[in-house]
This record gives sequence, structure tokens and C-alpha cells, in this order.
Amino acid sequence: MDGNGRWARARGLPRLFGHRAGAENIHRIVEDCADFGIKVLTVYAFSTENWGRPRDEVDGLMRLLQETVDKEVPQMNEKGVRLWHSGDLSRLPTGMQQAISDALELTKGNDRIILNVALNYGGRAEIVRAIREIIREGMPAEDVTEEAISAHLYTAGLPDPDLIIRTAGEMRLSNFLIWQAAYAEYYSTPVLWPDFDRSELKKALDAYAHRERKFGRLPSSD
Ligand code: FPP
Repeated sequence: MDGNGRWARARGLPRLFGHRAGAENIHRIVEDCADFGIKVLTVYAFSTENWGRPRDEVDGLMRLLQETVDKEVPQMNEKGVRLWHSGDLSRLPTGMQQAISDALELTKGNDRIILNVALNYGGRAEIVRAIREIIREGMPAEDVTEEAISAHLYTAGLPDPDLIIRTAGEMRLSNFLIWQAAYAEYYSTPVLWPDFDRSELKKALDAYAHRERKFGRLPSSD
């Protein structure tokens, strides 16, 4: 969800206003994705690297996250959204940890769309955590397969992403789902996240529909 800061600055507003506009956009995009038949949407809300931002911004983001959870979870539950979390909850404020666990429990029976929120998430840390778990379980080396690693990630049970959309013109992976995105199609748009709306989503999906996915093999015409 890149470009919140730039969106605010362009309006002469503090960066947090951009994050607020960005948080409000999630609700709309979840509905649009559900309308288009998408079954899983992951949003990158806070990376393990984001703790390095100025204290004011981190504190503001934490307050905004708490507010967003309080406000959105009941509405999302009514709309059939199942919430999922990827990341390390332990470093988040205890109130937020509880609110997130409650939200996962409340919505676990919903199946219209899964909204996976990557919060205090880092892709490399996720892989390290998976390997540690595998070792702790005493798994024999021959059993450590790609499937076994996938099954120990935060996304265990979810399909790998087909499409990664990066807003605000960024062209980096930024430690996002680095294992799961091995064969994902990538789409970058200059549109800032708060302005990324249904028509922009449609453009991304249309671009995706014209890609030929090869998974390392030859194109189907050859
Ligand atoms: C990147 O834009 C955005 C973030 C680091 C935070 C995104 C978080 C939210 C929208 C808050 C709410 C989320 C949930 C799931 C409740 P940036 O700050 O890097 O913008 P810039 O690139 O223009 O500086």
C-alpha cells in the first residue's frame, strides 16, 4: 500500500493523513476484489522494517491500526470476510494482539474472501521461523520439501499469490511473500495507494489476464 505519505504531502497534510486515507481504502478494495471473484487478498500493512520509521509515525500507525481493527472487523464480518494474519504478533501492543486474535476467531467461518493482513511481517523472518519449527519438530532432512516449508509459513493453507500489485511506482519486492511469490506475476502502477480504486484494480486484473504464465517452462505455443 505504497504512496500514503506522498498522497498526504501532495495535499500539504502530515503523512498520517495519507495512512488514514490508505486504511479507508482497504475496505473498498476488499469489496471490489470479492466482486471480481478474488478469493484471497493480502495487504502489506506494516513490515518488520517499518519499526525504523520516526517514532511519531510508528505510534500513529499503531493507533490507526487499532482504530481500523475496531471499526472494520464487525463490518467485514457482516460482509463475509475472513480475516487472516501474517507476521509476528508478539511485538505488537497486547491490546492489538488480543483484538487480532478475536477478529480471526470471529470471522473464521466466513468464506466470501480472505483478507490476509501482513502486519509486523517480513518474508525472510517468516522463512527462518518455518525452518526453526521444522527443526524443533525433528523432521528428517529428506522430508524437508517445498511443500513442508510452505506448510510452516504464516500462509499455510492459502494458495500462492497469482498477482502482486505494487502502487506508487515502486519496483521492489520489499521482503513481501518472497517464498510464496516465486511464480507470481508482478504489476507496478504509479497510482498512489489511497487513489487505487476499482478501475485501477480492473486495469491490474486485465494486465494479469494477458500475461502468459510459464512457471519456468516454454510458452504454450512453442
Ligand atoms: C506505505 O506508504 C504504507 C505503509 C508503511 C503503511 C500502510 C498502512 C496502512 C494503510 C494502515 C492501516 C492498515 C490496516 C490493515 C488496518 P509510505 O508511507 O511508504 O508512503 P510513501 O512511499 O509515499 O512515503
